[in-house]
Amino acid sequence: MRIFIIVGLIALSNCVSFSLTQRCACSEYKQTLCEAYPYCAWSGTACVDMDCTYLKSADTCTGPKSGYQCSWNASSSKCETHTYTCSEVTEDDCSQKIFGFNCMWVNDKCQDFSCSTATSAACDPFNCAMLDSSSTCSEPKSVDCSSFSTQATCNQSDGNGNMCYMNNDSVCTQYDIYSQNCGDYSSTKEYCQQMCTFVDSSKTCQAKSCADFTNQDDCILQLDLTALKVIPCTWSGTACQESTAADVEKLDIISCMVVTMLNYKWSLDDGKCTACTSFTTNPQFQYLQDYMNGSYGIQIGAIIVGLSLIFN
Ligand SMILES: *[C@@H]1O[C@H](CO)[C@@H](O)[C@H](O)[C@H]1NC(C)=O
Ligand SMILES: *[C@@H]1O[C@H](CO)[C@@H](O)[C@H](O)[C@H]1NC(C)=O
Ligand SMILES: *[C@@H]1O[C@H](CO)[C@@H](O)[C@H](O)[C@H]1NC(C)=O
Ligand SMILES: *[C@@H]1O[C@H](CO)[C@@H](O)[C@H](O)[C@H]1NC(C)=O
Repeated sequence: MRIFIIVGLIALSNCVSFSLTQRCACSEYKQTLCEAYPYCAWSGTACVDMDCTYLKSADTCTGPKSGYQCSWNASSSKCETHTYTCSEVTEDDCSQKIFGFNCMWVNDKCQDFSCSTATSAACDPFNCAMLDSSSTCSEPKSVDCSSFSTQATCNQSDGNGNMCYMNNDSVCTQYDIYSQNCGDYSSTKEYCQQMCTFVDSSKTCQAKSCADFTNQDDCILQLDLTALKVIPCTWSGTACQESTAADVEKLDIISCMVVTMLNYKWSLDDGKCTACTSFTTNPQFQYLQDYMNGSYGIQIGAIIVGLSLIFN
């Protein structure tokens, strides 16, 4: 038995997974790659973190193109650091928390976020109390899930990170909206499946894994949002399994960036995908980690936006 466990651990440790909240530091890159990443800039001698002063045109030094960090000063023709207020944000980006602001789109304007005036579309269930059936949004409050008996009255969030949701026995039950442990959702299959995998045979909610993919085309990567991890997957010929470090080294240049969520870098010298040794925080996911530590709200939708920014 003991031997079996040790072998099991070794097999697991050969597999790789990456944190979504960090990415390779710019100092890892030589010029060609450095210039390909929007978060880095080539100073002339080294690859450094992008800064407004490296954006040389009014077109790039603005809004989303600068990650809402910079704005163009027409009189000096310089790109300057700028703190955006909600009124300067476009409709598309107004509710995206990944840019670090807390705004909502109401009455054709981007305004400071407020639970009591947010429309149901703008309501943030992590920071506001929200009753699904009537689409009402209000300031956080305490809610006793056990006092509700129908689906229409049960579904709601309290604005403090908790929600009421029907469990598998149709009892209105309190859950964390965002738990780091998929097992917390074992009694609610439907909600489990939004972030984790429900295993029917054992009736348990488990973290996503490469084995969830049953065909080769889908077997690329798995996002484990509860652990804020990306898990690269490799097709064995018959099954989709977690990639080993050796599998990842063989990836081509594009897959090397995407599949490792910028935790590995491509080496133009030897054509290999290799692990970075220094990292910086990935601001597109930082707010998720902040939420986990109890200080910030998140939107699941924004995660996908974060990903699409990386893939673009
Ligand atoms: C733009 O640049 C000019 C000239 O350097 C400066 O006087 C002005 O304060 C800048 N404008 C802003 C909004 O920072
Ligand atoms: C409420 O939750 C149930 C599952 O418990 C879900 O099917 C339904 O779509 C939710 N929304 C409303 C408005 O009832
Ligand atoms: C509901 O979930 C719990 C916890 O996973 C499990 O023990 C129980 O068997 C489930 N009940 C039904 C009816 O599936
Ligand atoms: C969150 O908490 C963990 C563990 O306490 C800590 O290591 C990490 O730095 C914290 N993250 C943030 C963003 O505060």
